[in-house]
Amino acid sequence: SVDDCRLIRLPKHERENGNITVVENDIDLPFAVKRVYYLYDVPGGEERGGHSHKQLYQLLVAAGGSFDVILDDGISTRTVTLNRPSYGLLIVPGIWRVLNNFSSGSVCLVLTSDYYEESDYIRDYQEFKEISR
Ligand code: TYD
Repeated sequence: SVDDCRLIRLPKHERENGNITVVENDIDLPFAVKRVYYLYDVPGGEERGGHSHKQLYQLLVAAGGSFDVILDDGISTRTVTLNRPSYGLLIVPGIWRVLNNFSSGSVCLVLTSDYYEESDYIRDYQEFKEISR
């Protein structure tokens, strides 16, 4: 459910000359990372996502800028604003997500539990609703 999705505070090393945030396999996350990708150059007003995953776990981080993540488990929805690079949003399997309100220059870093597999996606909202009830 959307209640299983949560913000995870990541270790932050603050210095006068800048900050570093580190994510280590199996330490900071409840899954081992197999793949990393990042979403950037999103034009103003555009949205991303609009699908759910059958098995995949993801951690979303606003590595730069900010955006909103709308989580939907078929029963309830929740909107989380990501705007700090030292927090990640854990998204568990079975959650429909839409990302919008991207600030200019924002970067959405995504750490995932598996390789890219189109068969893991549900891209049809009606199908998602039927499966999740
Ligand atoms: P998608 O996951 O739908 O992007 P978003 O959730 O950001 O809207 O992927 C968009 C396209 O990119 C889709 O055709 C699949 C492709 N893609 C890959 O080939 N590899 C990947 O690792 C990802 C995430 C997407």
